[in-house]
Amino acid sequence: MADTKKADRLMDVAIRRSFLMPSSEIYGSPSGFYDYGPVGTAIKHRIENLWRSEFLQKEGFHEIETSLIVPEAVLKASGHAENFADPLVTCSSCKNKFRADHLIEQNENAKKEHVKAAGLPPQQLSELIKKYGVLCPNCKKPTLSEVGWFNMMFQTNIGPIEGNTAYFRPETAQGIFLDFARVVRNYGSRLPIGIGQVGRSARNEISPRQGLVRMREFTQMELEYFFNPKDQSHPKFGKIKHEKLRFASEEGHPQEIEIAKAVRDGLIANEIMAYFLWKQKMLYLAVGVPESKFFFRKMPKEETPHYSKGNIDLEVETSYGMVETVGTAYRTDFDLSSHSKHSGADLSVFVEEDKQRVVPHVVEPSMGVDRLFWCVLEHSFREKTPEKDWEWFAFPPAIAPYHAWIFPLMKKDGMDEKAREIEEHLRASGLIVYYQDSGSIGRRYARADEIGVPYCITVDYDTLDEKSDKHSTVTVRFRNDGKQIRVRISELAAKISGFVKEGKVTG
Ligand code: GAP
Repeated sequence: MADTKKADRLMDVAIRRSFLMPSSEIYGSPSGFYDYGPVGTAIKHRIENLWRSEFLQKEGFHEIETSLIVPEAVLKASGHAENFADPLVTCSSCKNKFRADHLIEQNENAKKEHVKAAGLPPQQLSELIKKYGVLCPNCKKPTLSEVGWFNMMFQTNIGPIEGNTAYFRPETAQGIFLDFARVVRNYGSRLPIGIGQVGRSARNEISPRQGLVRMREFTQMELEYFFNPKDQSHPKFGKIKHEKLRFASEEGHPQEIEIAKAVRDGLIANEIMAYFLWKQKMLYLAVGVPESKFFFRKMPKEETPHYSKGNIDLEVETSYGMVETVGTAYRTDFDLSSHSKHSGADLSVFVEEDKQRVVPHVVEPSMGVDRLFWCVLEHSFREKTPEKDWEWFAFPPAIAPYHAWIFPLMKKDGMDEKAREIEEHLRASGLIVYYQDSGSIGRRYARADEIGVPYCITVDYDTLDEKSDKHSTVTVRFRNDGKQIRVRISELAAKISGFVKEGKVTG
């Protein structure tokens, strides 16, 4: 069930605490665009780096970075020029435009009958608008037009000569298909080969809403795994085949299913797809989305993108309702074959065992960073309690905006200089720390908690007192329970790094 009040409240917190900022705010903030503030940028980069580590580096895959603007020919070949469209309806009275499937699914009568409008062709959507008497949400009149298509790509022109049409890429994947042959040539790689990238994509959404869930410009982390279609096995499948994934069931309750069984029963297309679904589950747990809050769903054919032979989405419970945050597609050889046909380039790879060239098939896990970021905020947000008189975030230390904040107990008697010295030392050790000396110590703890900093380090009189048995130690306070321990300055960097690695958040 959607709880938009809760979502609005969290968005307000996110903006006040430097997680997010409405884009072009002083010019009125066009909808569908958000900037990340200093705190949000730090968390977003940590999530991206965790993905890089888990989905690329630990798998021995390549990372590339491709152009945002792509010539029209690319998107004609990929099918986006023709198929990448949403159903649009216009109100003939107030002239506002809306996404037809969303309007139908929000209609109370259609809701009672559990009508699924997503993926239906315009003619059927027009019939549903008539059947349920869907009104214009703006002027409340029965004046909605017939449904048509609206292509979601942002169009531009390369250079000053008109007619050199190009688009802002609607997915990062196309750049990977275009560079595939060169990566293979340069690396002499054999199949399977994985190429990924993290980058911006843009879609001119008809009615962007729900904050980071439907944006017009957003970040994707996409991996294209190229393999010989004759061999749909995965070398690490044996390690994960007895693990379980939660899948949406017909009855509505998610069910835990053993991965090997899901592949045997055809719920998951092959071992490759299964392996990457499991990797997604592990990444979601690592960033703090509890397992009870997400599940996988096999998409019905009518909701599967034009390039895919089968899609499995990962959906997360949020205050906007269930939100798709990852799409994993079995893209077959659709893209490489189509680019080969349109460009004349040979995009096949020689397979020694078969003594012939084959056009590889592709499994693509495609993850949106912004939607995941929002889910992390939702599931890490903690209300006030008698023990903690402020709202805070329980981020896992690996993705927290700072590893630690460092304070002098007071800004006098050399405590501030010592705290600055420790700050430098921790930074040189690779930790992300921030010095704070304004406000009472309690207020500084609260401010750190409010943005989810896991550890606060305080320099006090004992730190400086050569006669004290606590000389050359500082206090380390743990965010979740406020407990404190004393740690030698000489061991501080190693201890904090160890806590981050372990995910230790209580004393
Ligand atoms: N290359 C395949 C592809 O782009 P998709 O399901 O359209 O597939 C993948 O997008 C992910 O990108 C989604 O699961 C979502 O997390 C993110 N995404 C897509 N459209 C978005 C939007 N308008 N705003 C924010 N994130 C979006």
